[in-house]
Amino acid sequence: MKTYLISLFCLLSGYAIAQDVKITHGPYLQKVGEHEATVVWTTDNYAVSWVELAPAGNESFYFKERPQYYQTKDGNRVVTKLHKITIQGLEPGTEYRYRIFSKAVMVEQLMYGHIASSNVFKQQPLRFTTLDSGKPEISFVVFNDIHGRIDDLKALSNNVKYGTTDLVIFNGDMIDDIQDEQQFFSAFMDESVKLFASEIPVFYARGNHETRGFFSQYFSDYFPSNSGKLYYAFQHGPVHFLVLDGGEDKPDSDIEYFGLAQFDAYRSEQQEWLKKELQSESFRTAPYKVVIIHIPPEDSDWHGALDLYKKFLPLLNNAGITVMFCGHLHRYLYIEPKAGLHDFPILINDANTLLEVNATQSEMSVKRKDVSGKKLNELTYHSVKK
Ligand SMILES: [Fe+2]
Repeated sequence: MKTYLISLFCLLSGYAIAQDVKITHGPYLQKVGEHEATVVWTTDNYAVSWVELAPAGNESFYFKERPQYYQTKDGNRVVTKLHKITIQGLEPGTEYRYRIFSKAVMVEQLMYGHIASSNVFKQQPLRFTTLDSGKPEISFVVFNDIHGRIDDLKALSNNVKYGTTDLVIFNGDMIDDIQDEQQFFSAFMDESVKLFASEIPVFYARGNHETRGFFSQYFSDYFPSNSGKLYYAFQHGPVHFLVLDGGEDKPDSDIEYFGLAQFDAYRSEQQEWLKKELQSESFRTAPYKVVIIHIPPEDSDWHGALDLYKKFLPLLNNAGITVMFCGHLHRYLYIEPKAGLHDFPILINDANTLLEVNATQSEMSVKRKDVSGKKLNELTYHSVKK
């Protein structure tokens, strides 16, 4: 009633109070492919948002009016606090510059307020590069089991050359549980934005801890993928990535899940998707086939791992997988191929080490490094002859 009276006063007096808006988290890149990219950020108030795009280079952003991209639904521009703007029609392996804007909307009166943006006056535009399956060499890094330890995320990042890193993979359990949006961002995502996520695409394999807490049901809203699911595939350079979601580790009926878990059925759904994905031309012809999954389907007698073992390994066996990257155990373990079970190695990364991967046409090297930057292991794989 109070808002209504103030609004009525404003309308009658011809005086409008402009609604304020601030960008609270992000922007970060998601769903970057060869022809598209999605920019995600949040605002403290309802807003309609857009991304302005310019080619790479030194030409001023103000050289001409730049195309604006909006989030739309059924023909309307979306008024929201979680902004996900997909830019389509991009060229593979091409760098672009971008800026973001959010214009406040007073939803009760459908009036516009202030505009918030990336720092368009003082900061250089942000940049990203689309994926390119024809790129001869790529580099990427893998984090897992950070569990909100921002200091370790920073320390591990200290030795990463983000300028030459094509993409970052979060292989699960970046957080303990997800209670609300603020806690979710402050646990690791705000720091990731500061370090790399505004300019380097992040690909997320959900861990079992990201399934926990009230806000976990909204997790996929913040990390859109090219399949619309938390399991998906993509290719960059010579590497084809299969990103799988292991779900929870205990039986669905466990007291810890409060009767809300249904991961057996979810893993069966993925099994069907995986059967089709393994038949795809891009998977079959890729020089390296890398599986990313948080829970190792090995070395455990817990139900989640056993269900993965039963549903995924028979499909992946004989599919030419180069290596599978896992986390979850909080210790390093390298499991060599086992005849009849999995004909590829499983690399389980520790909770406080990082994987740095470089793949060329002839060789893929994986370096495992600790928080001081010291190399602990180095593994080399060779491409599948086509
Ligand atoms: Fe885990």
